[in-house]
Amino acid sequence: MSPFRRERPPVCLGPLASLPEDVPTRVATSPPVAILRHGDTVHVFEDRCPHAGAILSRGTLTNEHLTCPAHKATFELATGRSTGRLPCRPLHTYTSWLQDGLLYHSPTPRPTRKAQKSPCPNPTPPLDSP
Ligand code: FES
Repeated sequence: MSPFRRERPPVCLGPLASLPEDVPTRVATSPPVAILRHGDTVHVFEDRCPHAGAILSRGTLTNEHLTCPAHKATFELATGRSTGRLPCRPLHTYTSWLQDGLLYHSPTPRPTRKAQKSPCPNPTPPLDSP
């Protein structure tokens, strides 16, 4: 057995022209992904909600944020970040590109950025301050 890991090949998702605009579309890859085409922007993301596994492509789209049809967790599709009131791990998102009219995506999810801590709006002064 080789000590080197092999890169998995890119996954072909078919012709970009066949994708509807602004409608999340499920593709039966392994694991299944969903594609959202919005103008020249394409988002490819896991089609399984990290909360309890509902099919996200059946969710509701609002300004490139997708709301899960089951318990209403919300995700920003550009980053995968959970943005709703139900906290979830970030959605796996994938790098995609066009080649000869066909859409491909990397089989490896993009690394997710850790949530930044927001500064406290009313910081409590230290106890020993005057
Ligand atoms: S399965 Fe998506 S929010 Fe619960």
